Amino acid sequence: MIGGVTMSFYELFKPRGDLGYHVVFVMGKGGVGKTTISASIAYKLSTRGYRVLIVSLDPAHNLGDVLDIALGDKPLKVAENLWASEVDFDAMVTAYLEELSEKMKHFYKYLTVLNLDKYIDVLRESPGIEEYATLEKILEILKENTTNKKYDIIVFDTPPTGLTLRIMALPTITLLWINRLMQLRLAILDRRRIIANVTGEPVKVKIGDEIVTLPYDPREDPVFRELESYRNDIEWINNIFTSNEYSSIIMVVNPEMLPVIEAEKALKTLKKYGIGIKTLIVNKVLPPESIGKGYEERLRLQEKVLRLIEEKFSNIMVKKIPLLPSEPRGLRALEKVASLLE
Ligand SMILES: Nc1ncnc2c1ncn2[C@@H]1O[C@H](COP(=O)(O)OP(=O)(O)O)[C@@H](O)[C@H]1O
Ligand SMILES: [Mg+2]
Repeated sequence: MIGGVTMSFYELFKPRGDLGYHVVFVMGKGGVGKTTISASIAYKLSTRGYRVLIVSLDPAHNLGDVLDIALGDKPLKVAENLWASEVDFDAMVTAYLEELSEKMKHFYKYLTVLNLDKYIDVLRESPGIEEYATLEKILEILKENTTNKKYDIIVFDTPPTGLTLRIMALPTITLLWINRLMQLRLAILDRRRIIANVTGEPVKVKIGDEIVTLPYDPREDPVFRELESYRNDIEWINNIFTSNEYSSIIMVVNPEMLPVIEAEKALKTLKKYGIGIKTLIVNKVLPPESIGKGYEERLRLQEKVLRLIEEKFSNIMVKKIPLLPSEPRGLRALEKVASLLE
């Protein structure tokens, strides 16, 4: 139910609102079938006439294996209306750190006297860097599409739950510290303004052979402006993450206790950040008639989990996909998986 209207599964991803396109995140534990399902959904939507991009953000890429085609960092057209890419993580982190380093050198000219590159090398190994680089990559893809409107739907095949949750939480956390940094910067600029008023001229410093005038008006301060522009980007992406119209999260589980418990925790965590999950897909459900002797207990456990799912996820759309006799690979097999979700 969305706004009192019951929607069919694929209608959930129809672009709505003024963003012009819809963003889908497929989440879940490793091995549950995220890539298989995200590729199936992306393909199905492309056959309905939407221009779809599917991006693998999982460092353990297997989108290419599932589509049965070699993929790279740049989107490759894999079918009519369907493009796919696997993000190059090393290049992504390097690009992120290089940009950071350039900005720091630009804003703080005196840092060039220090060996900044050495610090950047340390940053590469620091916790959280991969999450920030991934968020930056999502931002880059979405901003580009906002400008060139190339795709109607962008599907992200995400890393296992823990990492994805940290990425989704980043905007909220970032807004806390960036607002604090902006206050600090304003306080610094205010000191400069006081000094300028007392001395009758703006504060100047000598960096190398150059005399640099330090602005006190926030609109002229490159550091403040950079913080402001970053805050705007983060607010923009958070708005997409938290909007029902602009984005959807699909949670994938297997009919086993542990993935379901994990999914329930993830749901609670996302709720804290104002992010809702639209559908839960229970993948690899054992068809009772196919179960051989000795596996009755397994089936009983599955029944128990399915009942638990009904209870715990009564507010969202739940879809089931059976365990298929073979691993779905290639567009024809994915089409079959996709049709099970209709
Ligand atoms: N419904 C299904 N029936 C049979 N095999 C499946 C099904 N869904 C996924 N698989 C297989 O399970 C394995 C893991 O799926 P994958 O989509 O790679 O999971 P993830 O991306 O979550 O790690 C793959 O070998 C895939 O082919
Ligand atoms: Mg995968």
